[in-house]
Amino acid sequence: MSRKPTVMEIAHCMVTDMRDNWFHMRSLLSIVFIAVLLGLTSALSHRRSFGIPIQKRSTFTKNGVVNLDAVRSHLAYSEGKYLRGASAIKYSTGVISPSSSGHTVGRRAASGVSVPLTEYGTKLWYGNISVGSPPVEYKVDFDTGSADLFLPSSDCNTTCAGHTRYNPAKSFSAVNLHQGFNLSYGDGSTVFGDQYTDTVTIGRFVAKNQTIGAALQYSAGFQADNFAPDGLMGMAFPNISVFYANPIVQTLIAERQLSDPVFAFKLASSGSELSIGGVNQLLYKGNVTYAPVTRQGFWQINVGSLNANGQAISKNISAVVDTGTTLILGDAATVHQFYSGLNATDVGDGLYTMPCNAMPNVSITIQGKLFAISAETFNLGHYDTAGTQCVGAITGAGSLGDIWILGDAFLQNVYSIFDFGKLRVGFADLA
Ligand SMILES: *[C@@H]1O[C@H](CO)[C@@H](O)[C@H](O)[C@H]1NC(C)=O
Ligand SMILES: *[C@@H]1O[C@H](CO)[C@@H](O)[C@H](O)[C@H]1NC(C)=O
Ligand SMILES: *[C@@H]1O[C@H](CO)[C@@H](O)[C@H](O)[C@H]1NC(C)=O
Ligand SMILES: *[C@@H]1O[C@H](CO)[C@@H](O)[C@H](O)[C@H]1NC(C)=O
Ligand SMILES: *[C@@H]1O[C@H](CO)[C@@H](O)[C@H](O)[C@H]1NC(C)=O
Ligand SMILES: *[C@@H]1O[C@H](CO)[C@@H](O)[C@H](O)[C@H]1NC(C)=O
Ligand SMILES: *[C@@H]1O[C@H](CO)[C@@H](O)[C@H](O)[C@H]1NC(C)=O
Ligand SMILES: *[C@@H]1O[C@H](CO)[C@@H](O)[C@H](O)[C@H]1NC(C)=O
Ligand SMILES: *[C@@H]1O[C@H](CO)[C@@H](O)[C@H](O)[C@H]1NC(C)=O
Repeated sequence: MSRKPTVMEIAHCMVTDMRDNWFHMRSLLSIVFIAVLLGLTSALSHRRSFGIPIQKRSTFTKNGVVNLDAVRSHLAYSEGKYLRGASAIKYSTGVISPSSSGHTVGRRAASGVSVPLTEYGTKLWYGNISVGSPPVEYKVDFDTGSADLFLPSSDCNTTCAGHTRYNPAKSFSAVNLHQGFNLSYGDGSTVFGDQYTDTVTIGRFVAKNQTIGAALQYSAGFQADNFAPDGLMGMAFPNISVFYANPIVQTLIAERQLSDPVFAFKLASSGSELSIGGVNQLLYKGNVTYAPVTRQGFWQINVGSLNANGQAISKNISAVVDTGTTLILGDAATVHQFYSGLNATDVGDGLYTMPCNAMPNVSITIQGKLFAISAETFNLGHYDTAGTQCVGAITGAGSLGDIWILGDAFLQNVYSIFDFGKLRVGFADLA
């Protein structure tokens, strides 16, 4: 269905490093007012940042007990996503490499699970975007670990039931690119369909020429029972786009909609927000610690160390910052080492349990600053109904080489800033 694009067709990210100014939401009305007064001169027509409220849905635990099948499926999903992204970027020397790891793209390592995606459940962070003319509202999962936007198509069969579907025939701004797409997931199932461009509005920002995948079939993991949003919005670099197109923030940058090519997340039990075009200074305190992006594609950085009970377990880790992965994934050997001093039990598939009353203090050091992972986010829940053993959120992955994935179990503890202009990821303590 999808033809193989050549290297020449890879969209290059157009990063504009503009004025580093930011105005929080309280100032928004006055900014708009001033901008109108000044007649929207070109210098002021760059839109300011805007916060988009986001919601969370969790299906990892039931009555406090972890659904291990759901966790395993999520791990398979994440690994599949990484192998696919790495395959799109064709890293020449990277350690995330489908060819060097010997696995088929999108398939879980042989040592992994064979749980069907029907069991897949996760914590998803989603919010609203609108697409088309006239605009229709969709809920999308905000995913910094991928770079494509897809929605269920009005031509999708029963597999998209329960979702709001995108009908390009009813949008006068839709353009059919006459190009298919096919995204593989962890259990080998796929989401496929056709590519369009259309107008996408997120917050107050309008991307006029955004590539969108209209899915003709949804794999089980995206069906309404398992997936509350309608679609998924990738926020990584264009290099890992399976569509070989700009993801939405890049489109906004290319169309000169953002004065600051930055977006930022607060992912917490309340008041979660995605900010686009700047950061929301009300949501964090202290200085921001920035780590340079070491390789454009994923949001990949070097992490100083992973610490348990004050002791550095592993140093200088290369890690990808991913809002679309719930857990923290690391290489099996280091994860084993991490748990070996903690009276933990290896329960298979990269998962470990520990006595609930002796959970470790876990933290991550980035550029010399220590960021604690709260007990609440490290502890996934009870392993058994007795509630004596608990499952840790740091899990071993079979197929990611030495790359770690810093998912929501870490990101819920910080304000995270993704800066396309200065090619860096920032972390700050939550306000
Ligand atoms: C999508 O890709 C998978 C695996 O690469 C393949 O089995 C499937 O036939 C493809 N589907 C379409 C519609 O191209
Ligand atoms: C990703 O694309 C950017 C911009 O074109 C380029 O500078 C960078 O080297 C690419 N990254 C990789 C890993 O190929
Ligand atoms: C998305 O829009 C719907 C309908 O307008 C609204 O009920 C919901 O609260 C919105 N969700 C978020 C996260 O803003
Ligand atoms: C519709 O979905 C089912 C899975 O429920 C799939 O097997 C079938 O091939 C799909 N049909 C079409 C026409 O896409
Ligand atoms: C819109 O995007 C498509 C696909 O990326 C591209 O081929 C086309 O040239 C773009 N059109 C404009 C007006 O930028
Ligand atoms: C923030 O950085 C400044 C300058 O480096 C320093 O003086 C200040 O103490 C830092 N503040 C905090 C809370 O660490
Ligand atoms: C961390 O590892 C990278 C290569 O993986 C290396 O380039 C860098 O210098 C190392 N940093 C430190 C502080 O050891
Ligand atoms: C491991 O268990 C032993 C024996 O119960 C205990 O003394 C020790 O403190 C435990 N270590 C940790 C890190 O919980
Ligand atoms: C974790 O840190 C807290 C306070 O920071 C301390 O009371 C507790 O004993 C520590 N737990 C372990 C297992 O070291």
